[in-house]
Amino acid sequence: MRVLLNAIMSEVLKDRIESLHRELQDLHAANAPEIEALRQKYLSKKGLVSQLFDEFKLFPKEEKAQWGAPLNRLKQEFEARITELREQCQENADSQVKTDLTRTPDPIGLGTRHPLSLVREQIIDIFSRIGFTVADGPEVEDDKHVFGMLNFAPEHPARDMQDTFFIEKEEGVQKPTDILLRTHTSSVQTRVMTAWAKSLNNASDASSSLRVLCPGRVFRNEAISARAHCFFHQVEGLYVAKNVSFADLRQTLLYFAKEMFGPETQIRLRPSYFPFTEPSAEMDISCDLCGGKGCAFCKGTGWVEILGCGMVDPNVLESCGIDSKVYSGFAFGLGVERIANLKYRVKDLRLFSENDVRFLQQFESC
Ligand code: DAH
Repeated sequence: MRVLLNAIMSEVLKDRIESLHRELQDLHAANAPEIEALRQKYLSKKGLVSQLFDEFKLFPKEEKAQWGAPLNRLKQEFEARITELREQCQENADSQVKTDLTRTPDPIGLGTRHPLSLVREQIIDIFSRIGFTVADGPEVEDDKHVFGMLNFAPEHPARDMQDTFFIEKEEGVQKPTDILLRTHTSSVQTRVMTAWAKSLNNASDASSSLRVLCPGRVFRNEAISARAHCFFHQVEGLYVAKNVSFADLRQTLLYFAKEMFGPETQIRLRPSYFPFTEPSAEMDISCDLCGGKGCAFCKGTGWVEILGCGMVDPNVLESCGIDSKVYSGFAFGLGVERIANLKYRVKDLRLFSENDVRFLQQFESC
């Protein structure tokens, strides 16, 4: 009886292996979901091939030897066919792509934002939160707006061709004209203040204030090296109202430093001189590399210089048509490259203008 049962079981298994072999010959699929459906049907845990393995486990030992090999072969053949179908499907997809004439021939890489744009936007963002708006001015300027109205003495060295690029009126004529490439964004101050003074005269409410940032490119006649360039970027800040004090300037700059470099940052103001501010100062921030202890970056001082600032000189207010007995103001000017250097530790200034993608790609995630 037992022998007979074994013989029947063997016969059934043989039939089913043969029938699955026939099905295998006819296995086709048009796409990935169909291939996955076939895999499920035959090879998943409850699949038809797997079921045969379950039944095989019930066979007596002596029968197992006979069926192990054919069953394994069947499984391998199904697996091979599924892999083959997948490859065919991929090849078809690839060949379709090749004939897609609307596709761009070269893959387009994702662009990155320039580090100077990132820093400029961040500066604007920080000051816009305390009411500063952005003003623009021309890069090709006249002597009046760059120097004269900003209280530069007529013989000031900045007016020398050594320091400033003057525009020649006629080709080949070396004589300097009063048209030049602006050497600082302070020139935009004079334009903005003049326009504001005019609007003040017309306005009934004289309690208004002027709060602007002037970002832009500036030019100086310098030999290009790792530490100097003939053009760079500045952001000028200006606040004019009644009763503006040096304390207002200090608090505004402290707020900026903490927002830009972190809440631990401290500032220090050192007396300085600029023709357009009185008193004038230069601002240092505590070195964020060493936390103020002193390192190679801050040359052992614990401080790093980041900007110039001061109270707008009354002469400048008057030259723009603002009554310096009623109004006062503060101004500051910072170098965007300088801040970018501090944030990203860029050792060579030239990298900012060379547009080398290996440099720019490093700012992909910023
Ligand atoms: N214009 C100055 C420069 O280019 C920077 C500067 C210093 C701007 C002090 C200011 C200021 O507004 O108050 O070096």
